Amino acid sequence: MARMRGMTELRKTVGKYCLRSAFMVVCIASVPFALAHDGATGVVKERMELMSMLGKTMKSLKAIIRNTDPIDPATLSRSAEAIRGHSGQMAGLFPAGSYDKPSEASPVIDDRRQEFDALFLELGDSAKRLAALAETPDRSALAAWFRDTGRVCSNCHKIFRAAR
Ligand code: HEC
Repeated sequence: MARMRGMTELRKTVGKYCLRSAFMVVCIASVPFALAHDGATGVVKERMELMSMLGKTMKSLKAIIRNTDPIDPATLSRSAEAIRGHSGQMAGLFPAGSYDKPSEASPVIDDRRQEFDALFLELGDSAKRLAALAETPDRSALAAWFRDTGRVCSNCHKIFRAAR
């Protein structure tokens, strides 16, 4: 009898443990979505998605810079094309007054619209320079490009994206 009870206890413990870890997986998996686009619709959702893609593109370029493999020109041109396309589209996705939660965009955009738009144009220029770099890929030139472009992102975020 004692042994039976032991088994039952064991099964209970394992059951509880599994339940807890299953929940943990579900919880962890859903966190980024909850933080990022929770409840966003229309232009807000659209611009958040484009920004996320910019983030992913920059991340993959960073990985290429850190890597020692030969740089694939086609990958660079694809990234340049993505950045150019997104920066061109995005200026039109911040209509006046579209800054309520869950958006992190700052209402300062309405007061300093020219400066805001100019930063998207700067990002477009960056994309052109990346396309040019793709013709003769060079790791240190790419690293310099990355620093400059990262500055354009953060110059805009500093002023026009509210702190989380
Ligand atoms: C001209 C301004 C501007 C530039 C340039 C810019 N961003 Fe943003 N970014 C914003 C604003 C404003 C938001 C907040 C949008 C919102 O929540 O409505 C944002 C949000 C983001 C987000 C969060 C998106 C989400 O999931 O909610 C990421 C990631 C991001 N930007 C990456 C980048 C990267 C990488 C670059 C440069 C390659 C860049 N951004 C360039 C203004 C800019």
